[in-house]
Amino acid sequence: MSHHHHCCHHGHAHHHHQHKDYATANKEHFTAQLSDFDNPKYTELARRAAAAMRKQYAFDEESTVLMDFACGAGHISRQLAPHTKSIVGVDITQAAVDLYNQRVLNQGIPPEEMRAVCVELKGEEGELGGLKFDVIICSMSYHHFESVEGITRTLSFFLKPGGALLVLDILNTLEGTQDTSGTGKTLFDEKFHHIVAHTSGFKEDQIRSMYEGAGLTCSMFDTMKARYHGQDRTFFLAKGTKAAS
Ligand SMILES: C[S@@+](CC[C@H](N)C(=O)[O-])C[C@H]1O[C@@H](n2cnc3c(N)ncnc32)[C@H](O)[C@@H]1O
Repeated sequence: MSHHHHCCHHGHAHHHHQHKDYATANKEHFTAQLSDFDNPKYTELARRAAAAMRKQYAFDEESTVLMDFACGAGHISRQLAPHTKSIVGVDITQAAVDLYNQRVLNQGIPPEEMRAVCVELKGEEGELGGLKFDVIICSMSYHHFESVEGITRTLSFFLKPGGALLVLDILNTLEGTQDTSGTGKTLFDEKFHHIVAHTSGFKEDQIRSMYEGAGLTCSMFDTMKARYHGQDRTFFLAKGTKAAS
């Protein structure tokens, strides 16, 4: 343990072990663990997440244009598909995007209605063909993102005026302040720490200021309990709304 801290604290070249950036480590992990996407412990959570999202946003099958950010194999997309006009899944793991699109094809759904793309969005004009969204969801992925502030600003860019961002992730229920790094307590097993940038989950204040920083008003913050990796965990669902004009 101490040698990990040694090299990080001193900030020079990591000679003991290779640190990959989180995005690269995530791509490798989720490519290798592709079958994990169908593990019932995740699909059940995806089902509950989709149900919670439908309570917080009035999805309309005639009009709702949805982005499922960090969509993985598309479990949440599939839950919400009957309630949307079209869905674009976005993920940085090509293998997950391929799986997503294979399933869309197998179900006979045209790609104009539902498709995934493998891209690292920057929040610049012209990306995704200039498409903007009524609602963007991101489930069980924020803890993987190195800069949740940066990603939130990017997602805010892709919202139409009045559009909503729904983020579901793990609530920080650990004692003490936001910075639990000194305590050694985390909500994720050590073996996942190379792919989880936020091992303590998130606190409500952090999510609220993250939304504000991205020009979104946090209009709802709700929590629910669920089993996750064999533990009882508390999840939050937060809604951020972009100004109407
Ligand atoms: C735990 S899975 C969740 C998948 C899906 N949202 C669900 O709930 O079933 C996390 C996903 O985040 C993706 N991911 C990790 N870092 C990312 C990033 N920086 N940008 C986009 N996607 C990312 C991974 O490739 C993976 O598919």
